[in-house]
Amino acid sequence: MAISLNASFLNSFVGEHELSAMEGAVRDAHAKIWNKTGLGNDFLGWVDLPVNYDKEEFERIKAAALKIKNTCDILIVIGIGGSYLGARAAIEFCKSPLYNNLKKDTPDIYFAGNNISAQAMKELLEICEGKDICLNVISKSGTTTEPAIAFRIFRDLLIKKYGPDCIKDRVFITTDRAKGTLKGFADAAGCETFVVPDDCGGRYSVLTAVGLLPIACAGISIDDMMAGAAAAREAYKDCDLASNDALKYAAYRNILRTKGKKTEILVDYEPCMVMMNEWWKQLFGESEGKDNKGLLPDSVVFTTDLHSLGQFIQEGERIMFETILNIKDTGAEVVVPNDEANVDGLNFLTGKTLEYINSMAFKGAAIAHTDGGVPAMILDLDSRSAYDFGWMVYFFEMACGISGYILGVNPFNQPGVEAYKKNMLALLGKPGYEERRAELEAKM
Ligand code: PA5
Repeated sequence: MAISLNASFLNSFVGEHELSAMEGAVRDAHAKIWNKTGLGNDFLGWVDLPVNYDKEEFERIKAAALKIKNTCDILIVIGIGGSYLGARAAIEFCKSPLYNNLKKDTPDIYFAGNNISAQAMKELLEICEGKDICLNVISKSGTTTEPAIAFRIFRDLLIKKYGPDCIKDRVFITTDRAKGTLKGFADAAGCETFVVPDDCGGRYSVLTAVGLLPIACAGISIDDMMAGAAAAREAYKDCDLASNDALKYAAYRNILRTKGKKTEILVDYEPCMVMMNEWWKQLFGESEGKDNKGLLPDSVVFTTDLHSLGQFIQEGERIMFETILNIKDTGAEVVVPNDEANVDGLNFLTGKTLEYINSMAFKGAAIAHTDGGVPAMILDLDSRSAYDFGWMVYFFEMACGISGYILGVNPFNQPGVEAYKKNMLALLGKPGYEERRAELEAKM
C-alpha cells in the first residue's frame, strides 16, 4: 500500500464502537460507487479510469509531449479549477515547486487562465518574450471565461509571432469529445485534440488527458502514475472497513464532523504539497460543500505555517481536525554541518538530516495539537514517485465519493459554481443577461 492510515492519535477522540457504527453507511456508500446507483452516477468514470482508459489517446499524449518538447521553450497550460489544479499539483509534487528553475531537458511550464489578474498576465507575457511557445488549452465546456480570455491573448501572441498557420502546430486542445466552442475551433484550425471524458468531472480528471498531457510534458512517467492509480483501485475495491483505508478515512472524517469538527486541515511538511493541497481542497470542497452541509477543507504546510496558523490550531476555537499527509521518503538528503564555534548552539544537530529534523517537528506538533484538543489522522505516503502520486489521487477520489454519499449529498456536481459566473457575465454586459444585470445594478 503506498498510503496507510494511522489512527493512533484519534484514540482519545473516537472510540472503536463509533467506527463500527459507521459500517452500514460506509457499505451503502461503497455499493453506490461500485454499482453506480447513487446521485451523480453518470460522473463515475474516474472509478475505472486507471484500467479503462483510451490507450490510443494515451500514446498520442506521450507523442504530443515529445513534439512539444522539441518545439518550444515554454508550454503555457491554460485552464482553471479541475482543468488546471491536478496537472500543477503533479508537477510540483513529483518534480518540484521550482520545476521551471531546475536543470532539465523538458520545457518550462507556466499556468494561465486560472485568474483574471492583469499583473499575472503581464508578467507571463514578459517571460514569454523571445521564447518559443506552445499552448495546451484545457476546458471541457470551452466557454469558461478565464481560460477563454487567456487563450485569446496567447493566440494573438502566437499569430503575431509566427503567423496564422502556426496554430495547428503550437496549440494542443483538451476539451469535449464532440461538441463546444473549443472543439469547433480545434477542428477548424487543425489542432491536435484530447478528450475530457463525459463521465469525469473536472476535479476527478487529473488522470485523463486534462492532467496527463502537461504532466507528460514535465517528463513525469504517466505509465507509472496510471499503474499507481490502478493498484489503488484494486486495493479500495474491497468493502471491508478494517482493511480499506479510503473507507476508514471517509468514516473518521464523518464521525469527527458530527462531533462538531467542521474544518478539516490537510497538514503536510513539504512545499511540494502546496498545489496538491489546492487540488485536495477543490476535490472535497466542491464535492461536499452543498445543501448547507460539508466539512470546510483547509490546508497548511508545516513547519512554515506553525509560525502562523499554528497558534490558532493549538489554542483557537476547537472546530477542526487534522489529516497529516506524511511523505516517508522525500528523496532528498541534506545534512546539518558542524560549526566548531557553535555560535548558534546548534551542534546537537550536527550530522542530522533535515528529513529527520522535519520528522521530529511532525511528531512534536502532532502531539501538541492532539494534547490541545485537535484530533489528527496520519496518512503515511511512501514517496514522491509518479506511482505514489497516482495512488494518492485515487485514494482521495474514492474517499471523497464515499464521504459525500455518507453525508447525503451528490458528490459529483457543483451547482454553486454557476452563481458568480452568471453575475460576472451580466455585469460585463454579455448579450442575453440584460435582466440579471438590471437586478444586480439595483442591488449595488
Ligand atoms: O470541477 C469542475 O468541474 C470545475 O472546477 C471545472 O473544472 C472548471 O470550472 C473549469 O471548467 P471547464 O473545464 O469547463 O473550463
